[in-house]
Amino acid sequence: MKNLIFSGIQPTGSLHLGNYLGAIKQWTKLQHEHESIFCIVDYHAITVAYDPKKLPGRISDVALDLLACGIDPSKSTLFVQSQVPEHTELGWIFNTLTPIAELERMTQYKDKSKQHKENINAGLFTYPVLQAADVLLYKANLIPVGEDQVQHVELMRVIAKKFNKTFGKLFPEPKPLLTEQARVMSLADPAKKMSKSLGEKHYIALADSDEVIKKKVRSAVTATSHGDTSPGVENLFAILEALGGEALVKELKAQHKKGSLQYSELKDVVANTIISHLSPIRERRAELEKERERVGEILIEGAKTAQKIARDTMEEVRKKIGVR
Ligand code: TYM
Repeated sequence: MKNLIFSGIQPTGSLHLGNYLGAIKQWTKLQHEHESIFCIVDYHAITVAYDPKKLPGRISDVALDLLACGIDPSKSTLFVQSQVPEHTELGWIFNTLTPIAELERMTQYKDKSKQHKENINAGLFTYPVLQAADVLLYKANLIPVGEDQVQHVELMRVIAKKFNKTFGKLFPEPKPLLTEQARVMSLADPAKKMSKSLGEKHYIALADSDEVIKKKVRSAVTATSHGDTSPGVENLFAILEALGGEALVKELKAQHKKGSLQYSELKDVVANTIISHLSPIRERRAELEKERERVGEILIEGAKTAQKIARDTMEEVRKKIGVR
């Protein structure tokens, strides 16, 4: 079977180091090895309170970030979910196949409904069903994501199996593809995963200046509550390793074991490594920013390519479920 890569990202403003190390870094590699489709999932982003005036800017910001990171529109398809309405059509059909009990188990739903108590809507609940439609519409089988999305990919398999069993084989059962650094933790609270919703000091944005990166890494929590392993220190080592500093990590870990490692020294190394990776991305982004219209064109082209596949799949789906 031919491999097809699909992954998605929400347009929630500028991307952070967790998105980069958990997902995007491997997207840029995979696009050279397999047919790849990457989607900016705006219909997922509206399941929490948002400002409709800011959404278009956020969509093009994420597109710019992805292009600056190295997503190459001549190698892969990049598009916006709402421009291919087949996603929501298939999502509806999948709703009728998805057991509520499966959705109730989803940790992202549980977390988000705690975070957004005033707005626990049905879209937030069925979010993973639309995500299954995103992937299966293209019959994608490999899904490069961070660890927090593995449960959603497992649900895709449940839905694909149920569809195939009920209506006849049509969909593959997708598998997650994880990087070694599939769970980057918050700098300020290393018990939680890095995410924008925690606040500024918890994450490093791809757009952060060198000074801001230094400041955030310097104030990262390293204190050990008990024993000699601190999740904060482990996280810094993990970030360093993911950015290619394997030899450095080995050396610093040996020092750490002997008790001679100064955390300020570790932080300087980590900050400088992050800076050397992010500053070229920031520079490319500034260049791309000058031709924002071009980004719009790329997204329209991407949607055309995606929709060709989506239309064919929906023809098959409609026939199989008996509405044609
Ligand atoms: P989103 O927008 O929250 O995150 C995009 C990608 O970044 C990864 N990620 C992380 N990886 C490691 N450490 C972290 N701290 C971290 N934070 C985020 C996420 O795992 C994700 O891979 N539901 C998805 C979007 C989506 C999707 C899809 C993904 C919609 N349809 C179809 C794959 C296939 C989401 O909210 O990602």
